[in-house]
Amino acid sequence: MNRQSMDINTINTIPSPCYVIEEELLENNLKVLDMVQKASGGKVILALKGFSTYHTFPMVKKYLPGVTASSLNEALLGVNEFGGEIHAYSPVYLPNEIDGILEHASHVTFNSLAEWERYKEKVKAKGVSAGLRINPEYSEVTTDLYNPCVVGSRLGVRAEQIGDELPEGIEGLHFHTLCENGAETLERTLEAVEERFGHLLHQAKWLNMGGGHAITRKGYDTELLINLIQQLRKNYNLQVILEPGSAVGWETGPLISTVLDIVENQGTTTAMLDVSFAAHMPDTLEMPYKPRVRGAVEDGKYHYNLGGTTCLAGDFMAGYSFEAPLKVGDKIILEDMIHYTMVKTTTFNGVNLPSIGMYKKDGSFELFKSFGYESYKDRL
Ligand SMILES: Cc1ncc(COP(=O)(O)O)c(C=O)c1O
Repeated sequence: MNRQSMDINTINTIPSPCYVIEEELLENNLKVLDMVQKASGGKVILALKGFSTYHTFPMVKKYLPGVTASSLNEALLGVNEFGGEIHAYSPVYLPNEIDGILEHASHVTFNSLAEWERYKEKVKAKGVSAGLRINPEYSEVTTDLYNPCVVGSRLGVRAEQIGDELPEGIEGLHFHTLCENGAETLERTLEAVEERFGHLLHQAKWLNMGGGHAITRKGYDTELLINLIQQLRKNYNLQVILEPGSAVGWETGPLISTVLDIVENQGTTTAMLDVSFAAHMPDTLEMPYKPRVRGAVEDGKYHYNLGGTTCLAGDFMAGYSFEAPLKVGDKIILEDMIHYTMVKTTTFNGVNLPSIGMYKKDGSFELFKSFGYESYKDRL
């Protein structure tokens, strides 16, 4: 059956601005991830840092056995809204959070040997399975902001710092060096991991291969991923875990916005929107990348910048063109705005956060949340 995509009448009933998760698209992604688990014997858990819209968890947990948390707040969200296994990794644990995390976690990964030493008695007392984040010194990520293997990186322990034996009490190894990469990148990364850490993999009970696997992107080689996981399990007799965030929310819905004004300056026309690139889509400026807009064309007759609501001069996105002129009241639909958006929003300038809702399989829209003054004031 063909998917019923949101029509303009439905879109016009949705409060603007709004992140709209499409139920069917999310479920399709979860089915792919579940297929990988079942075919490979590995485990796929949700990285809450990338997608934590808990209203969807009743569906997500039908497919994934748990979550990975980077803080006590994420661990509590996992416990209260997801259930299942709670894995934890943070570049550094806060002294006032570690006990709470150990209370709930099944697995906890430390970023340094010193931190493991600091907390190992607590970890053992709680019976939590402990791991070390390793730095394989190999990453194909070209943007330094997202590359944990830059020289001098604070993320992960290098092989020579560990030596021949896993520290007593450490059961797992964890690496996270991918970012929206294919299985071929994982294959090359594993060569580096095995070369530097192969002797330690033989001693470990589990290997967590982090996130950054673009498993739900069209053209991703799931067969290769499945083979790689199977080989690891066979060669080292260990459990293999993946903890994607992006792959769960990948292309599962847009951020719907509205044109509020059109301003012209020195030949540039800007359609002013009711959303902010800085506050509601920060990766567009940080990474940076240009989001796709529904209906925008390569070389249309009418050219616009899209302007955000905050006073930041750079809160705009250049270079969109359309076949027809934009006018006040038009909807601008920014595609693929579910992962790493809601988790990173701010209320800079006091701008409201966009609402959050779901376009359901039956064609209806369910509003999960809208925000107002209290949400803004609460964080100050
Ligand atoms: C340690 C770790 N695990 C998992 C993830 C999730 O990565 P992604 O959302 O790219 O799959 C991240 C993201 O930064 C991470 O740092």
